[in-house]
Amino acid sequence: MHAITLNKVNYSIDGRDILTQVTQQIKIGERIGVIGANGVGKTTLAHLMIGDLSPDSGEISINGRVIYVPQLVVDDSDRSGGEKMMQRINESLNNQPDILVLDEPTANLDMTHQNWLIKRLSHFYGTLIVI
Ligand SMILES: Nc1ncnc2c1ncn2[C@@H]1O[C@H](COP(=O)(O)OP(=O)(O)O)[C@@H](O)[C@H]1O
Ligand SMILES: [Mg+2]
Repeated sequence: MHAITLNKVNYSIDGRDILTQVTQQIKIGERIGVIGANGVGKTTLAHLMIGDLSPDSGEISINGRVIYVPQLVVDDSDRSGGEKMMQRINESLNNQPDILVLDEPTANLDMTHQNWLIKRLSHFYGTLIVI
């Protein structure tokens, strides 16, 4: 049984190909990492996988309730980026999604908070996609 399937997915922005013929199956309960240089299309792929964007062509199927924790945009509020990210991840896990997608969750976390995240995610038994 699959949590997410992508079949020959194409997506372009302003005529520039971002994703070309992407075919991938993510099994329920699988824990996967998405790795790539800045600007290659990881966040775009996440938006497609959660149904926020529609592909130009190809099919995407999503099986279950998805929560996406977006890449943090740092603003001038008084709380640190790390605290904000931890709160969002906590809220997301408390909502018990079938599929959890984290977009660069460790970008603002120091070592202590990275260890907290690893521990926290070890108790999540749904499908996990970490960019
Ligand atoms: N709304 C948008 N308008 C124009 N260009 C975009 C938009 N969203 C993303 N891009 C471009 O698409 C490419 C992929 O972006 P993104 O998926 O955010 O990459 P990543 O998450 O891997 O850093 C980048 O070159 C980015 O500049
Ligand atoms: Mg990104």
